[in-house]
Amino acid sequence: MSLAEKGKKQIEWARMHMPVLRIIADEFSREKPLKGIRIAAVLHVTKETAVLVETLLAGGAEVWLAASNPLSTQDDVAAALASEGVHVYAWRGETEEEYFNAIKTIASAEPQIVIDDGGDLHAYLHSTAQEIAKKVFGGTEETTTGVHRLKAMERQGILKYPVIAVNNALTKFMFDNRYGTGQSTIDGILRATNILIAGKIVVVAGYGWVGRGIAWRARGMGARVIVTEVDPIRALEAVMDGFEVMRMDEVAGIGDVFITATGNINVITKVHFEKMKDGAILANAGHFDVEVSVKDLESMAISKREIRDCVTEYVLPNGKRLYLLGRGRLVNLVCAEGHSSEVMDMSFANQALAARYIVENRGVLERKVYNVPLEIDRRVAELKLRSMGIEIDVLTDEQRKYLESWI
Ligand code: NAI
Repeated sequence: MSLAEKGKKQIEWARMHMPVLRIIADEFSREKPLKGIRIAAVLHVTKETAVLVETLLAGGAEVWLAASNPLSTQDDVAAALASEGVHVYAWRGETEEEYFNAIKTIASAEPQIVIDDGGDLHAYLHSTAQEIAKKVFGGTEETTTGVHRLKAMERQGILKYPVIAVNNALTKFMFDNRYGTGQSTIDGILRATNILIAGKIVVVAGYGWVGRGIAWRARGMGARVIVTEVDPIRALEAVMDGFEVMRMDEVAGIGDVFITATGNINVITKVHFEKMKDGAILANAGHFDVEVSVKDLESMAISKREIRDCVTEYVLPNGKRLYLLGRGRLVNLVCAEGHSSEVMDMSFANQALAARYIVENRGVLERKVYNVPLEIDRRVAELKLRSMGIEIDVLTDEQRKYLESWI
C-alpha cells in the first residue's frame, strides 16, 4: 500500500490524456447505467486500465480486477486501485499458478459482466467454472488472440454468453493495434536495450495491424525492415508499402532485431536460432509468449544470464549469443508501460460503452461473438476528434441523396 500515492499520480497523468473516457465517466456518474453490476476484468493493470476502472465505478459497478499477463502489472497502480476499494488481484512477477489463481478468485465473485484481454477468463468460465458462466449477462474481449479463441467457442456451439469483440471496433484495432503497439513495442525494445534503431535490420513477423504499426515505426527510425508473412495478400501489401518480404528461415541469419506479431505459435524456433547472428535481439509483441519459442532457447542454450533488466542472454552451443527481451512476453508491456494513454482512451471507451450495451440489451443478445455496434464506434471517433479540436464536414442533403441513388 506504500506505493498507492505514486500510483494515484500515475493515474492522474493517464486521466489527463484520456478525454473521451472522461466524457463517458461524467455521463456514467449522472446516469448510473451499471448500477449494482458486478464486473470481473482481466486486463493489463496499467494506469490506463485504472481510468477505465474508475469509469466503470462511476457508472455504479463493482469491479474485480486481475492481470492479463504475469509480468505486465504496474504495482503502484494496483495499490492505488486497491486503496480505492477495487478488488485487485495482481502484482508484477506472478507465477503461472498465482496468475490463474487470481483469475479464479475474481470469477468467484460471480460477475454479471466479464471483461477480458486474451481470453483466459472466458476460457476459465467455459471449462472449470461453467456454473458461474451461466449467470454472466455478457462479456467483452480486448485483443485479437482473445477474439480468435471466442470465435472457436462460438463455432463449437459452447459459448455460454454473448461477447462483444471490442478488438474488432474500428476505433480499437486501427489505432491501438497499429499506432499503440507500433510505438510502444519500439519503446519497450529501446528501454530494454538502448540500441540505435537506425541502420539495424529489423525483422517483423506478421503484417497484421500490429505488425504494420511496428514495421512503419521501425522504418521511421531508420531501420531496414524485412517482413515475414503467411498470407499472400498481407505479404503483397507489405511489398507495396516498400518493405522487403522473405521467409523466416531466409532472414534468420540476416536480422539484428526480430519482432513477432502474429498471434500464432512457434514462429521463431530452433532452426532459426541456429542461423542467427551473434547478438541478435528477440522480442515478441503478440499476446502470448509462444511466438518466439522460449522452450527451444532454454533447451539449446549452454548458459543463460540476465545481462540487463528485461534482457536474457542465451549462449548457444555454436558460441553465438541471443538476447530475449521480457522473457518472450509482450515486450511493450513488460519492458515499457504499454500503450500511450491517448490510444487506450479509444480502446477503453469502447469497453465502457460495450459494458453499458450489454446491460441495456440483456435478453436480446444471443450467445454469439458480436462486433461493437457501429454507432458506438462512430461516437468514440467523434468524441476523440472533438477532444482534439478537429471538426469535419457534414454531408448535405444533396450529397446524401447522390450517394444513395443508382441513377
Ligand atoms: P492480425 O490478425 O491483424 O495479424 C496477424 C498477422 O500475422 C496476419 O497477417 C497473419 O497472416 C500473420 N501470421 C500468422 N502466422 C504467421 C507466421 N507463422 N509467420 C508470419 N506471419 C504470420 O492480428 P493483430 O491485430 O496484428 O494482432 C497480432 C497479435 O498481437 C495478437 O496476438 C494480438 O492479440 C496481439 N496484440 C498485442 C498488443 C500489444 O499491446 N502488444 C496490442 C494488440 C494486439
